[in-house]
Amino acid sequence: MDGRETQYKCTKCKDIGWIRNEHDAYRRCDCYEKEKIERLWKAFGANPKEVKKLNNYIPYDELTKKVKQSAAQYIKSFEDIRKNRENSFGLFGQSGAGKTHVIVSIGAALLNNNVKAIYMPYLEAMRELKANVIDNEHYIKLIGRYQQAEVLIIDDLFKEKVRKGNLIGYITEADMKHIYPIINYRYFNYLPTLISSECTPSMLCDLDDALAGRMLEFCGEDIFIFDDLNYNYRMRRFK
Ligand SMILES: Nc1ncnc2c1ncn2[C@@H]1O[C@H](COP(=O)(O)OP(=O)(O)OP(=O)(O)O)[C@@H](O)[C@H]1O
Ligand SMILES: [Mg+2]
Ligand SMILES: [Zn+2]
Repeated sequence: MDGRETQYKCTKCKDIGWIRNEHDAYRRCDCYEKEKIERLWKAFGANPKEVKKLNNYIPYDELTKKVKQSAAQYIKSFEDIRKNRENSFGLFGQSGAGKTHVIVSIGAALLNNNVKAIYMPYLEAMRELKANVIDNEHYIKLIGRYQQAEVLIIDDLFKEKVRKGNLIGYITEADMKHIYPIINYRYFNYLPTLISSECTPSMLCDLDDALAGRMLEFCGEDIFIFDDLNYNYRMRRFK
């Protein structure tokens, strides 16, 4: 140690981003990929270092207790379950119920354990994909990122199809064109996915049976549904 080690953000590569092995070949340092993922989160307005933690989630009834417990268990057992058919986690229903809070906190905790978790806020990501269809090479890079992520956090799936707990739209061909290949790829390759949606599972089935079936299957037991207005935490102080 030359005494300046502590000044580097990454002591492994001394912030160069490359590591030389014994054969004088270079490979990317882990910190490079980590920073890239952090940049991707930030591009969608979320900083994985600053998001709310699972610890900040306060359970107040049986369901919220179960959600918190299961999320903690999911993080803890992730390495053991990640290759299973049921390796995913889904929160559905009531707006303001803490769905984003919980799945994002799981994702950030996994990221902290060096699992490459990518944040995909549904509407923003769809907008980006739709805007880039004509640039084939770039499109494949974009969609590939979501398909192949070690863990993908799909936040607010089908947001624009729900208002006040009711379906207000159908899935269009344009929607399917982008989300279908992502969920299918992850399903067939057993890749863990964390999903939040204001849709309930039955609404998802109404939107698209096949897609819903796959998502519900890969979430297994870790499906939680907030099915009433009282779960709106944002409105708590007005009660
Ligand atoms: N049990 C809880 N304990 C502490 N904070 C909570 C709890 N539930 C929700 N919150 C907070 O309430 C706010 C709304 O939660 P969040 O955005 O996660 O809801 P949501 O279910 O994703 O809603 P939407 O469907 O509208 O996206 C956040 O600031 C979140 O941290
Ligand atoms: Mg949300
Ligand atoms: Zn490094």
